Amino acid sequence: MRALTYLAAALLAAATPAWAGDATRGAALAEARNCAACHGANGISAVPLMPSLAGQQAEFLLVQIIMFREGLRPVPAMMEPARGLTDAEIEDLAAFYAALPSGPAATDPRNEALAARGAELSAARNCATCHRPDYSGQAQVPRINHQREDFLVHTLAEYRDNLRVGMDTQMNGVMHGMTNADIRAIAHYLAHR
Ligand code: HEC
Ligand code: HEC
Repeated sequence: MRALTYLAAALLAAATPAWAGDATRGAALAEARNCAACHGANGISAVPLMPSLAGQQAEFLLVQIIMFREGLRPVPAMMEPARGLTDAEIEDLAAFYAALPSGPAATDPRNEALAARGAELSAARNCATCHRPDYSGQAQVPRINHQREDFLVHTLAEYRDNLRVGMDTQMNGVMHGMTNADIRAIAHYLAHR
């Protein structure tokens, strides 16, 4: 609870006054911290299980990097890159990655039956209500199209199993009771649109 209060305070401080992220400074910082080694040149990941960051919502990026820095989203690989970043530096990194063009969609063959099942599940669970009809996200709700399929499978299973903690518990609730087969279908559908 104390951690959450602290996070809320950190976010408030970072979010006010107006958004001040500077993409040029963010690019230099990303270079210095070697973010591309894992997240790809231009923010499009070529490494298994590493999420793409290009075109991601700035507010989502900001929140997640603060959570890594504070140890609230505990990912060993992200500890060193996030260590000691100031709120202003995190705003710059978020501005840089948010401004890069996202995509493209996955190019491996689309399995029509699997994608259709994924679309059905997305409709039943109202994914588009929060992530928008084109799945490009809004504010703290991330873009989930143009993302690596393996990362989607991994992270959706983590939400379901309460291994990934978000800003709140919305995604844990959404994923409750989903089977591994459901998760594979929805990830395939999202990655191939
Ligand atoms: C050694 C590899 C590595 C480096 C270097 C690295 N990251 Fe990451 N990053 C990861 C991994 C792994 C994850 C996904 C963790 C998970 O599975 O939840 C991640 C997740 C993220 C996320 C959350 C994305 C999402 O869609 O959930 C952001 C934002 C991020 N990294 C930003 C950065 C920035 C900015 C840098 C440079 C300052 C950086 N990372 C450097 C490995 C790395
Ligand atoms: C009530 C709103 C809401 C609904 C409905 C919802 N999401 Fe989310 N989703 C969020 C929020 C908010 C986050 C960011 C949570 C966090 O901080 O980890 C998120 C995060 C995610 C992420 C993590 C992306 C990344 O890059 O780390 C994925 C994947 C995702 N949602 C997929 C889905 C799918 C698939 C559905 C439908 C089955 C769905 N969401 C339904 C609000 C929602």
